[in-house]
Amino acid sequence: MHPNRVPVLTIDGPSGSGKGTISRAVAERLGWHFLDSGALYRAAGLAASWAEIALDDADALARCARDVEVRFEDRPGDDPLVYVNGVESSAELRTETCGATASAIAALPAVRAALVDKQRDFRRPPGLVADGRDMGTVIFPDAGLKVFLTASAEERAERRHKQLKQKGLEVNMPALLRDILARDARDAQRPVAPTRPADDAVLLDTTGTPIDAVVSKVLALAATAWPTR
Ligand code: DC
Repeated sequence: MHPNRVPVLTIDGPSGSGKGTISRAVAERLGWHFLDSGALYRAAGLAASWAEIALDDADALARCARDVEVRFEDRPGDDPLVYVNGVESSAELRTETCGATASAIAALPAVRAALVDKQRDFRRPPGLVADGRDMGTVIFPDAGLKVFLTASAEERAERRHKQLKQKGLEVNMPALLRDILARDARDAQRPVAPTRPADDAVLLDTTGTPIDAVVSKVLALAATAWPTR
């Protein structure tokens, strides 16, 4: 099948909107591949920090993003292990520091350009669920279904807090909320590929909605988008 005929479902939205959990569950239910595009930005940021590249050195950061090798190792019933340049880095990638670095370098057009092909390579049969900020607007503008998830900042901070706690990381709520708002503002206001719904995206507000209900809603939309799947 030509790569452009492989069906794609994009799920974009701000941090903590439930994107990761929801996209993963939807991909599993459809039996499709899954792209965690945020992990690529986080991995590029991590590799840059290992190489001690300054966050204002756009050329070196773009080279780093182009050269970084990211490998996902699926685990049944758990998040995949992520290897960055061969080093298992799953826990480090999830930290708030890594998220903030990713958000900073993601504002650089050369870094974004360096990651485009890596993201499009995930489009393989039988289909792809792509999670990010610009999946529906920039990376897969021809996706058959585009979903944009939102939730109140307070609820997103609470979800993040729970997630980090489960991973044994302790962060205080006011700091988390402040960081989430700062990261959202930067991701939404950058001139290149800001977080925003595509014109043809379906908007779902997940505030107060259990994850399972959102997953069912997205699967129902997918059944309409691909009736013969
Ligand atoms: O989804 P996440 O929290 O893992 O993403 C980390 C950062 O990477 C996010 O703050 C902005 C950036 N990012 C992006 O700019 N475009 C994407 N498609 C995914 C992530």
